[in-house]
Amino acid sequence: MNRPAPRLHSQPHDWAAIRAAYSLWHPRTGNRLRASIRPGIASILRWPVLRALALVFVLWGLTACGAPTLQASPNLRPDYQTVAPSPDGIGKVYLGREIAQTMGHQGAGWLDRPSRALQERPQAAIASLDLVPTDVVADIGAGTGYFARRIAPLVPQGKVLAVDIQPEMLAMLQQELEAKEIANVEPILGQIDSPNLPPNSIDLALMVDAYHEFAYPHEMMHGVVAALKPGGRVVLAEYRAENPMIMIKRLHKMSVAQVRREMAAVGLEWLKTDDSLPEQHLLFFQKQA
Ligand SMILES: C[S@@+](CC[C@H](N)C(=O)[O-])C[C@H]1O[C@@H](n2cnc3c(N)ncnc32)[C@H](O)[C@@H]1O
Repeated sequence: MNRPAPRLHSQPHDWAAIRAAYSLWHPRTGNRLRASIRPGIASILRWPVLRALALVFVLWGLTACGAPTLQASPNLRPDYQTVAPSPDGIGKVYLGREIAQTMGHQGAGWLDRPSRALQERPQAAIASLDLVPTDVVADIGAGTGYFARRIAPLVPQGKVLAVDIQPEMLAMLQQELEAKEIANVEPILGQIDSPNLPPNSIDLALMVDAYHEFAYPHEMMHGVVAALKPGGRVVLAEYRAENPMIMIKRLHKMSVAQVRREMAAVGLEWLKTDDSLPEQHLLFFQKQA
């Protein structure tokens, strides 16, 4: 659909008033500068080359400086509120959701529990990512790299960037990488408000059971979006908040509506929700191509 060009000024101009407001005054004599510079401009414009240069300069000014920015950009200002912390929360609310406490590295054993393969079907989750061998995947909130290590063989010409804020988690990941001789997983120490990834460098950002813990979700997602290549995808796996039978702490689960609200706040486009896993939603989003 062709939209009408936006009107930049809705009021008719009072040119006399505008001229009066913007005219320059000579600092010492009080005479208008216009009067003193007019003869100089006239003599410059007598030379054809200088006339052409002046024209280029004016056109550049009109296009580069004068052009209004009409592109919609997502809200850059995070909107956080403070509440009394819930037993599993940090007392900070983002778009109606209290942020969960971070799972400490002391609980890392739970991430690698043998029952996880049956309980969560991680291989089915990975298959649904439709990876190609050259993909660069960022596993953000990677923990011990349960997913990063399983994705690595699927991207032999690409790599996995495993980001976490706990050095202890990354140390355990490093041990596993060496033991299993996995060469294409790169551990990256992130910050609580930044994934520390280079811009336009990743095809997919995966966050498994991690996003709800980000203490600065808005800033983190801005970093993720900047790190994605155009058309790159974001996938979140979160335990279903809509289902009270799923025995996971309240703030460590998320509803589809809430995830979509928070991803929309950083300009990501929703692609699909896959509910084929036993306990988690898989939500797919895309950065504009
Ligand atoms: C519950 S664990 C999940 C680990 C892994 N994704 C898995 O499924 O095995 C969540 C992880 O997110 C990490 N985390 C929390 N906030 C983070 C942030 N802002 N940036 C990166 N990682 C973060 C925690 O340190 C923790 O290792």
